[in-house]
Amino acid sequence: MLLDTLQRPVKDLRISVTDRCNFRCTYCMPLDNYDWLDKSEVLTFEEITRLARLFIQLGVEKIRLTGGEPLARRDLEQLVKSLSGLDGLRDLCLTTNGSTLAEKAQALKAAGLRRLNVSLDSLKPDRFRRITKRGDLQKVLHGLFVAKEHGFSPIKLNAVIERGVNDDEIIDLVTFSLEHGFAIRFIEFMDVGNANHWQSDTIVPKQEILDIINTRFPLREVGRKGGSAPSVDYQCVDGSGDIGVIASVTEPFCSSCTRARLTADGRLVTCLFANTGHNLKVLLRGGASDDRLLDVLQQVWLQRTDRYSEERLAALRSGAGYDPKEHKKIEMISLGG
Ligand code: GTP
Ligand code: 5AD
Ligand code: SF4
Ligand code: SF4
Repeated sequence: MLLDTLQRPVKDLRISVTDRCNFRCTYCMPLDNYDWLDKSEVLTFEEITRLARLFIQLGVEKIRLTGGEPLARRDLEQLVKSLSGLDGLRDLCLTTNGSTLAEKAQALKAAGLRRLNVSLDSLKPDRFRRITKRGDLQKVLHGLFVAKEHGFSPIKLNAVIERGVNDDEIIDLVTFSLEHGFAIRFIEFMDVGNANHWQSDTIVPKQEILDIINTRFPLREVGRKGGSAPSVDYQCVDGSGDIGVIASVTEPFCSSCTRARLTADGRLVTCLFANTGHNLKVLLRGGASDDRLLDVLQQVWLQRTDRYSEERLAALRSGAGYDPKEHKKIEMISLGG
């Protein structure tokens, strides 16, 4: 089995299919204007599928499509169709902002996608607009209900919780998820990219999120799916609900991190907080054989040492402190979370 320097196998591949997004969430892409990749720089569906097949040979079992906003990529269902047919792939999923889900759910389902994660940070239209800068809550909710009608399961809601922004909506979001049969993941605000306004006191720690939920919905812990998922999952004590917390800041999960990331322009990145990636596109477009590509993927993974969130926690706890600006990272538009 292929293991990195910390004995972690590569099991998940998160593929960014575009750097573009129609939202500008304050915690992710806070700037109005970005220099988008030229279309010629973006991997084709054939190139992505080829790399996915090779990653599966190295142990990848799960692929997640991300962005920017993955549904902004034209004909995405064609990629879903190619990937869902790959031997050895156990799980194919998509993380979306949901804004065009209503129009695209049927084609995605027909192409073989079974489940979805949808960002939803607020149920208040004005606040939703303020957080996403351009988002229309009604469209996202409509997208969620259309996806549910088409039988996607599970549909997970992702809510990034920020102090003073939406921490008063935790109970409402749980209530909404229980009422409609959606799973929900609360996510500690992270210092991704270089432009968000992260400070350690803007995060709402996992324990505080749980304390709030427990006041209305007493929970029991189910644990981390597969032992390595970012989320620690819970159910209501009556067995209903699927509620999780992703505590990258206060309870990092680097020691079980089996995730590789592929940027839209074909860089292999081994950590969400990395400052660089390995350029696979030059190899793909330079005529490299499968064996050569496999060799490069193996070498990159064998040398992997990443444990950024553990290092951040150690720095936060030490007297030295932690300043996110001192760490240059790849922007979220390239990595899609
Ligand atoms: P499931 O496959 O449904 O369990 O979802 P997931 O947690 O793998 O994917 P999703 O795209 O919904 O991610 C939810 C949140 O977890 C996002 O905010 C991601 O940025 C964060 N996340 C996912 N993987 C990692 C990781 O390896 N490290 C860190 N720090 N955060 C991660
Ligand atoms: N902190 C936590 N989660 C984030 N995401 C984007 N930016 C951040 C951040 N700064 C999450 C979004 C989305 C997923 C792809 O990444 O909520 O669901
Ligand atoms: Fe928001 Fe997702 Fe777009 Fe980032 S990629 S700005 S989290 S919708
Ligand atoms: Fe993996 Fe990096 Fe996230 Fe740690 S910080 S869990 S190594 S992606």
